Amino acid sequence: MAELRRKGIDIINLGIGDPDLPPPKIMTDAIKRHIDEPDTHFYSISRGNLEVRKDVAGWFKGRFEVEIDPDTEIAVTIGSKEALANFSRAVVDPGDIVGVPSPGYPVYGNAAVILNDAKAKNILLRPEDGFKPRFKDMEGVKLLFTNYPNNPTGAVADEAFYRKLADWAETHPETAVVHDAAYCEMTFDGKPYPSLMQYTKNAIEFHSLSKVFNVTGYRIGFAVGGKEYIDGLVKVKSQLDSGAPLFIQRAAADCLKAYNGATPPKEVITNRSIYMRRKKLVEEGLTKLGYKVHPSPATFYIWFETGGDDMEWVDKAIEKGVVITPGSGFGEGGKGFARITATVPDERLQLAIDRIAGV
Ligand SMILES: Cc1ncc(COP(=O)(O)O)c(C=O)c1O
Repeated sequence: MAELRRKGIDIINLGIGDPDLPPPKIMTDAIKRHIDEPDTHFYSISRGNLEVRKDVAGWFKGRFEVEIDPDTEIAVTIGSKEALANFSRAVVDPGDIVGVPSPGYPVYGNAAVILNDAKAKNILLRPEDGFKPRFKDMEGVKLLFTNYPNNPTGAVADEAFYRKLADWAETHPETAVVHDAAYCEMTFDGKPYPSLMQYTKNAIEFHSLSKVFNVTGYRIGFAVGGKEYIDGLVKVKSQLDSGAPLFIQRAAADCLKAYNGATPPKEVITNRSIYMRRKKLVEEGLTKLGYKVHPSPATFYIWFETGGDDMEWVDKAIEKGVVITPGSGFGEGGKGFARITATVPDERLQLAIDRIAGV
């Protein structure tokens, strides 16, 4: 890419899930306010500030109508990436088998499997199943990752799926079930999507403010789950970090408190409508070009079939000045697909589509 830039080629980067829109004012104002408080420069604690955990519990009650104990069932995290990796360290021993969705967010296979000398069991997410796992494929794993709304496919899961997953977790105590809910607030069809915690606490769920509040660099999220799971996560974290900065934790709590039940603050609603419009623009543009698109009502990702080898296809797209992630980068199940991230303005997206027409 640097080489193309040197040649003066204008690159449109649709490869990374990093929101281009600015953080909402409620977030930046809160940070400015909290940074001046006299206690925010100290070490925080790995479990997260208790008042903030209470606010997370309050959000969970309003958003999902679930009671969560802030003392034992919540940990504030430094974004969800570290938390996913650190939780896996708490659970997985060398040689254990980890259920990794394929395609899936690469950290599951890399952090949970490689860093722990474990083995991956790829759990295929097929288009004909709406990119949901087949439950029989999940047997025999020590740790299982699930993720809806999904990266990279954008697929969503309904209540029936969560109920089934919760039943599975209850009947498989040998498996630690993870639900990665990083995109649970980035949905576009007007209905709030569920939390696995509505159906079981025999699991752990990871949330993040990164995507929906456009603050990937602030590093703030939280984990919610059964006491044993949260204790395991905190045990590892306590040796590796000293908690997210308190002014960031408090700002995140203010953002959660700005919800009215399941309805987010207006800035988030505006962001959603922008991402939805962009996503539609790309889905329609690719469809017109003859690509098979798998549309979805969530995330800023567009998942489509390249009609051949995805690595070759993205190389050709780069030659046209468009960076797109090959499906193979998300595992075996991503072969033949590619993922576009709608994190540039409409005009740039349209220009990217025009360029793709020549691939
Ligand atoms: C599915 C999924 N989970 C977790 C993350 C990590 O997000 P963060 O660490 O910023 O909370 C990402 C980021 O791309 C993601 O796509």
